[in-house]
Amino acid sequence: MSTNQLDKKSQAWSALFSEPMSELVKRYTASVFFDQRLWQADITASLAHAEMLQAQGIIAAADYAAIQKGMAQIWTEIENGQFEWKLDLEDVHLNIEARLTQLIGDAGKRLHTGRSRNDQVATDVRLWLRSEMDLILDLLVDLQKSLVAVAEKNIDVILPGFTHLQVAQPVSFAHHLLAYVEMFARDAERMADVRRRTNRLPLGSAALAGTTYPLDRERVARTLGMVDEQGQAQVCQNSLDGVSDRDFAIEFTAAASLCMVHISRLSEELILWMSQNFGFVKIADRFTTGSSIMPQKKNPDVPELARGKTGRVVGHLMGLITLMKGQPLAYNKDNQEDKEPLFDTVDTLKDTLRIFSEMVGGQTNPATGVKEGGITVNPEAMQAAAQKGYATATDLADYLVKKGLPFRDAHEVVAHAVKTAQQAGKDLSELPLATLQQFNATIEQDVFECLSLAGSLNARNTLGGTAPAQVRQQIARHHARLTH
Ligand code: ARG
Repeated sequence: MSTNQLDKKSQAWSALFSEPMSELVKRYTASVFFDQRLWQADITASLAHAEMLQAQGIIAAADYAAIQKGMAQIWTEIENGQFEWKLDLEDVHLNIEARLTQLIGDAGKRLHTGRSRNDQVATDVRLWLRSEMDLILDLLVDLQKSLVAVAEKNIDVILPGFTHLQVAQPVSFAHHLLAYVEMFARDAERMADVRRRTNRLPLGSAALAGTTYPLDRERVARTLGMVDEQGQAQVCQNSLDGVSDRDFAIEFTAAASLCMVHISRLSEELILWMSQNFGFVKIADRFTTGSSIMPQKKNPDVPELARGKTGRVVGHLMGLITLMKGQPLAYNKDNQEDKEPLFDTVDTLKDTLRIFSEMVGGQTNPATGVKEGGITVNPEAMQAAAQKGYATATDLADYLVKKGLPFRDAHEVVAHAVKTAQQAGKDLSELPLATLQQFNATIEQDVFECLSLAGSLNARNTLGGTAPAQVRQQIARHHARLTH
């Protein structure tokens, strides 16, 4: 092949074809306009491959040196926006290889020894996703820190806890926020776990069956940092699986979907809490929009959009998993369709985590290292809401149990008391002692302590409970966990 033959994609594989590809088919099959974002991974993987080829004596040291030089130039060209991406060359791999050959001649053509685009693309996607997951892991830490920072300031702020969206029992606002910290901590665990399976090397599987050249695949894996905690090279152990496995992309999108679902639940709460009927929190104006017709409005667009974008990411999971289900071994062109959903999942998740971290916790003040400008909490509105729905009814039942009543009987006694209070338009704690004693004679003055919101919280002093003492311990645990 002459040096510029690769410029024509129809000639990239052979002279076997008697007619060129139609323009429509070219556009239909090309991926270069979206897969060019893999360029750094593609060059990095190519350099690791070339280094191994020369170490194994498969190509000459001079060829490797030329490849290094050519790739350095291509790197700069792409970075500076000077690289000319050609639709004719279908994808990122052929574009870069063609340019390399244009720059360095035969040495460029030797790069593709012992590999195929099938193991090349699988390697590139894994490398790219690995670095994106590292960014996502950092963003998850930051979001958890934001939530912990707000929690820390609201340990003694009490709001109604709900079940069925009916007032159930009072809880600390900090405790409520820390529930989300638990969710995002599990999301980070899942990401770290997916990262382990993503960080394995397909390269060397070649087209599907392995290769006749004496490759050292473990060397390439080590060069690319595809190693486990003990530094052992991580290599896909079956060539057919290596080129066709996209489980890692599906697993990642599943983990991302779950993380978005957590964001979506938080969004729903923020939207409710911001409504006039709750009035529990405000988010900073820069995260809201006005209405073109109703001058009084401030709409929670960011949480609403995040709730909406959750559907989009879950859709990508469905897309990817469906993409795989009918594929025989080994590589099929279907797999080219893995990229856009994967890319969009990464973009959506990263943007959402970033914006939520700031919306909830604000920005870190560089002078003090403390986050400022997050959500504004209205403790009075929360407290008033907690006082409305007989949130301490369970506490009265527990009080009676401690006086010797079986729980089921206590439950019944309290139901009568609540009915009477409702008729009087009062909270249980506002009924006179004499009235309460009509329901059960063992009730004494100390009942009012357990009917108070703070008393109710303090009483739930078991591991994982909402008592401020427990919440303080959890905050300390999160601080220790998130600072290394
Ligand atoms: N652009 C292709 C993809 O994304 C690269 C692999 C093409 N391999 C092939 N045999 N056509 O999957």
